[in-house]
Amino acid sequence: MKQIPSFLGLMAILAVCIAQTSCQSKEEIFRQQYVVEGMMQYEKHCENCHQKDGSGLKDLYPPLAKTDLWKRLNANQIACIIKNGQKEAILVNQKPYQNYMPGNAKLEALDVAEIVTYLRDKWGNDPRIFPLDSARLALKNCP
Ligand code: HEC
Repeated sequence: MKQIPSFLGLMAILAVCIAQTSCQSKEEIFRQQYVVEGMMQYEKHCENCHQKDGSGLKDLYPPLAKTDLWKRLNANQIACIIKNGQKEAILVNQKPYQNYMPGNAKLEALDVAEIVTYLRDKWGNDPRIFPLDSARLALKNCP
């Protein structure tokens, strides 16, 4: 009889572990969906200038891959650039750029969340989702 509680205890721990693992992988599946959607949005709205591999184009369009972007800007700021564009002078890997990036007024918060998640995953070395709620909040508070 003494073994029953500990057996049950073990089952309880197992159940929690299984729940957590499936819970984690559900989140990961959800994040992967963002990444894939974000990639498609990137191809549609960004690739012309920043290129498929994120290497940018000469002195015109800054790279998004292998840059200090991730040290200078946080995800909220990147969300605002995507939505509103940018035209100030910037330094990317010490190299000056000053050109015009048009905004994407038609993109929804979800699109922006997906694009930021994709950029993070692909070039930010940061496998975290940028959730819809965060994107909404960021876009509300753009400078
Ligand atoms: C018409 C060309 C063009 C398109 C399309 C475009 N960009 Fe840009 N992007 C630029 C230019 C030019 C700059 C630099 C603007 C400046 O000088 O301030 C820039 C800057 C940026 C920056 C800031 C880079 C840094 O290191 O500070 C990010 C991030 C960015 N773009 C992401 C995107 C994303 C994501 C998309 C698609 C939703 C996109 N851009 C679409 C031309 C473009």
